[in-house]
Amino acid sequence: MRGMDHLAGATLLALITACSARTTDVDPAPPPTPEATGAMTSIEDLHLVPWPAEVAPARGTLPLATLSSIVLSDPEDPGLRELAAYTATLLADEWDVRLDVASDPVTQPIPGSVALLLWKGETRAHPEQYVLEVTPQSIMVSAPTGAGLFYGLQTLRQLLPPEVGAAAAARGIPAVEILDIPRFSYRGMHLDVGRHFFPVEFVKKYIDLLAMYKMNTFHWHLTEDQGWRIEIEKYPRLTEIGSCRKETIVEKNFDPFVGDGIPYCGFYTQEEIREVVDHALRRYVTVIPEIEMPGHSVAALAAYPELACTEGPFEVSTRWGVTQDIYCPKEETFAFLEDVLTEVIELFPGTYVHIGGDEAPKSRWEASEVAQELIRREGLADEHELQSYFIGRIERFLLSNGRRLIGWDEILEGGLAPEATVMSWRGMEGGIDAARQGHDVIMTPTSHVYFDYYQGDPEFEPLAIGGYSPLEHVYAFEPVPEALTEDEAVHVLGAQGNVWTEYMTTTDYVEYMVAPRLLALSEVVWSAKGHRDWEHFTNRLPAHFQRLDGLGVRYRIPNVAGLEEDALTLDDEITVTLKSLMSDGRIHYTTDGTDPNPTAPRYTGSIRLPVNETGVTVTARLFLPNGRAGAPRSATFRKTTLRAATTLDEPVETGLRYAYYEYDGRVRSVEQLADMRPVSEGVAADVEIQGFAREENFGLVFNGYVFVPVDGIYTFFLSSDDGSRLLIGDEMVVDHDGLHGTSEKSGMIGLAAGYHPITVQFFQTGGGQSLHLGFAHAGATGAGVVARLFHLP
Ligand code: ACM
Repeated sequence: MRGMDHLAGATLLALITACSARTTDVDPAPPPTPEATGAMTSIEDLHLVPWPAEVAPARGTLPLATLSSIVLSDPEDPGLRELAAYTATLLADEWDVRLDVASDPVTQPIPGSVALLLWKGETRAHPEQYVLEVTPQSIMVSAPTGAGLFYGLQTLRQLLPPEVGAAAAARGIPAVEILDIPRFSYRGMHLDVGRHFFPVEFVKKYIDLLAMYKMNTFHWHLTEDQGWRIEIEKYPRLTEIGSCRKETIVEKNFDPFVGDGIPYCGFYTQEEIREVVDHALRRYVTVIPEIEMPGHSVAALAAYPELACTEGPFEVSTRWGVTQDIYCPKEETFAFLEDVLTEVIELFPGTYVHIGGDEAPKSRWEASEVAQELIRREGLADEHELQSYFIGRIERFLLSNGRRLIGWDEILEGGLAPEATVMSWRGMEGGIDAARQGHDVIMTPTSHVYFDYYQGDPEFEPLAIGGYSPLEHVYAFEPVPEALTEDEAVHVLGAQGNVWTEYMTTTDYVEYMVAPRLLALSEVVWSAKGHRDWEHFTNRLPAHFQRLDGLGVRYRIPNVAGLEEDALTLDDEITVTLKSLMSDGRIHYTTDGTDPNPTAPRYTGSIRLPVNETGVTVTARLFLPNGRAGAPRSATFRKTTLRAATTLDEPVETGLRYAYYEYDGRVRSVEQLADMRPVSEGVAADVEIQGFAREENFGLVFNGYVFVPVDGIYTFFLSSDDGSRLLIGDEMVVDHDGLHGTSEKSGMIGLAAGYHPITVQFFQTGGGQSLHLGFAHAGATGAGVVARLFHLP
């Protein structure tokens, strides 16, 4: 299954064609079809997502109303009968087309029918590939497996008119031949039901949405500090106690804590779990349950405090974050976890069980006699090796029950369990490391596929955890790192979007965060790498929004493009050009800072606006024919003058001076560095984290001069985790202060050619660390002009 990714396009096509030629017991000769008439199908009219491996347009259309039956290569095959029933329901529910299932076996399409044909005796085929052929007389889907047929039907669904209902049935399906095969074998979406709980009906709708976009794995995050959501018969207190928290933090009121005072509860019975797993199975989606250990387990400790290293009592968490209380590595903890996993294995037939492994602080183990005695007895070096021992024991249990273990990339620390699969989330490095050790990996990095991150300007978005992962970042994601050799890259099974629900309180909000980013991800993991084309993708999106409307999915309407950044000019006028991804939407805008409504001026082409030093704020918003409106987006355009360069008497040296600070916790702003004494000082070649910096709780302040060779408007890009600021002279050019993950902010300033004083401040607290500075010259002249950094000797 793996390694398809590395086949050249021609080889791929040859393989598909070779396989498809051996359709069932089918006649080798094609069926005699009447000469097709009508217009050639245009590629531009096909709005398929993910885009298939090969699309060959043909002549004519098939009127939906001429379809009367579904025919099968083997009407006795239960899998085929199930797919026939699925096809009939789909066409009846969404397009009001009624089809009977014929009882005689067929070997080829028959006029007026949808033929579902399984290839017999084909062993070389990819289990998820398919061929879909629409002629003016019939439809044929053929594949080596039910999964392939199912994906062919998803493609067929997208060829049907986007408007749902009987009116659409009068329309035709464009004639086309499609040969398709996925790039990756693992195409996943995750859902955290611990922070917020979502009913079974929604989980099924979510799985339907995944399946529609050919995702084949649903990672169900079932246990958390804030709630244990799966019934375990042997341990009833897990749900009696662990599934309820007494209240929930209001927005981000951590300090001082503000709770809503409303108890929050919910769990799935084993019967409901079976119902979801069965629903997923029928959509060729494997459900991977996640039972977190040793961290994120406070809800379990609230129910069974004897599993902790300290006495408790514990309460189900009411706030988000990482807690110090984790499972203690006692024999009774392992017995408990094995009992829990025994019931989990019984419920979930898939190969993988996810055991978490992330964000498990070791303070309780450091102070625990039980943990320290185990470290001595097993000859372990430290608490990281103890975690590795913990995960290794659980892996042995899973393997002995015929299952495989997946864990977040922290399971690399202290040594990987022998057969573990790694989910790389803190970046790609964990995945690279694991693949080099010969382990399978799934790429789920925060940089691209954390669907709890903002997808637009936070000012105009519903409250989210932070970060920034707009649709185009997801679309640009490449799961196979260049650092891997071809042999190592074979271990990259695929990628997954993660949906952590701290701030997603409703199902509408989950849908808003997932769609359309899911569509971008589906193309990343299904389509050939060479087919990735942002413009083509965005041209196909509006048709999908129409389909999602029909399915009641509350997707996010992309914001108007062209207002991503505030901008400066040296002129008295600016030209603003706006763009919408939605061809059927209307853009309305204001220039007084107010939120545009449909009576505001309508944008019909580039606008020229006078600007002065105060600036003009353009706010624009997209309105769809269905009455929904996108989030507003605004940018301020300001006239500026050039800052005079500083005359330096002494010869300068390259690089900036730095001061390095260390502190103990609770720093939330670069301003706090001003009260501290540096631990060391020196010269840095660039604005970046210096090699000697420790992992946690430190600051850096860089000072010196930036030299620009020509007059102009310059943009500075500052990316950091956590806060940073950039000043030129006394002017704040980029303010990216505060606690946050890796993200970038930019700012502009007009600079006369020469030297200008520059200061960059940075602090790091809690978790990841990064710092990077980039420059660009915004003027038409001097493109490619590079600024350089200097200090006085
Ligand atoms: C994670 O986001 N803590 C895996």
